[in-house]
Amino acid sequence: MNTTSSELQRTIDALVQDGKGLLAADESGPTIAKRFKRIGVESTEENRRAWRALLLGTPGLGEFVSGVILYEETLAQCADDGEPLPQLAARHGIVPGIKVDKGKIALAHAPGDEITQGLDGLGERLERYKVQGARFAKWRAVYNVSDSLPSRLAIEANADGLACYAAICQQAGIVPIVEPEVLMDGAHSIERCAEVTEAVLHEVFHALHRHAVVFEHMLLKPSMVVAGKANTNQASVTQAASQTVTVLGRTVPPVVAGIFFLSGGQTPEEATAHLDAINRTGRRPWPLSFSYGRALQEPPLETWRGQAGNVHAAQQALLKRARLNAAASLARYDAKEERVG
Ligand code: 13P
Repeated sequence: MNTTSSELQRTIDALVQDGKGLLAADESGPTIAKRFKRIGVESTEENRRAWRALLLGTPGLGEFVSGVILYEETLAQCADDGEPLPQLAARHGIVPGIKVDKGKIALAHAPGDEITQGLDGLGERLERYKVQGARFAKWRAVYNVSDSLPSRLAIEANADGLACYAAICQQAGIVPIVEPEVLMDGAHSIERCAEVTEAVLHEVFHALHRHAVVFEHMLLKPSMVVAGKANTNQASVTQAASQTVTVLGRTVPPVVAGIFFLSGGQTPEEATAHLDAINRTGRRPWPLSFSYGRALQEPPLETWRGQAGNVHAAQQALLKRARLNAAASLARYDAKEERVG
């Protein structure tokens, strides 16, 4: 193995561990402001620092979480005692990663579709992030669903963006997390979600292959196959799990190092129950775990509310969700434990 390849393998080994998943704490400025508004906290640089220091300073988090996805600003921030936050994560056995896409814009000539931007200068940015401690990266593409969306153009253009990003990351010795998110917004059926997810993943892996991305040195962060939020006919947890695993089996090469789901607007309990059911469907070629943002952060955020006196309780709320999701990644989640503090 050459140096870059063994560097990528070391990061993969640190991230993909039995009974562990990832914490997504990489909300952009506008998104974190929206989350803070709900708990009456202003989105100042200091409040964002305090929140993310709380998350990363949670004692015992490293038992259930192997990596954290950070936003650019956090890479340069410090805990209350002055320790840089990426260093604090690493000290707890949690690999620091970084969101590198620059968000989405409307895709020209494709009404209703969106495209993710951020490839310009990505190589140089990665070099900087690496010096700051990042060892892996994330790029999110989103797909709106209707009877006619996403268009072929959106499926192909976003696949190419994801693949270009992943290739640049691997060349820089950074493990890419490839995140194609089929959105839950809308009234579509679970069957329509399955159809779109299959088309999206098929195209993503086609593009990754074209860009010579090494599947063993990347992680996939997909959405689960579920009905749209506004659909009154919601599938059962086992149906969603079975459809998710079927679609992944048809599209994801078995050598992909790991699949870490996003939560995408599911409640924390739903996201845990789904992950558990997915892992109960039987033997799969890839580890299947979590890379949740909202489903891990909502309960601690509600507890914290910006008050220093609530830090300990908020950390306990985070630890509980991390522990239950870690159990779900091993098909050992017991919903009765939701009632235990
Ligand atoms: P959610 O789990 O809230 O979907 O966030 C995951 C993520 O990283 C979105 O890009």
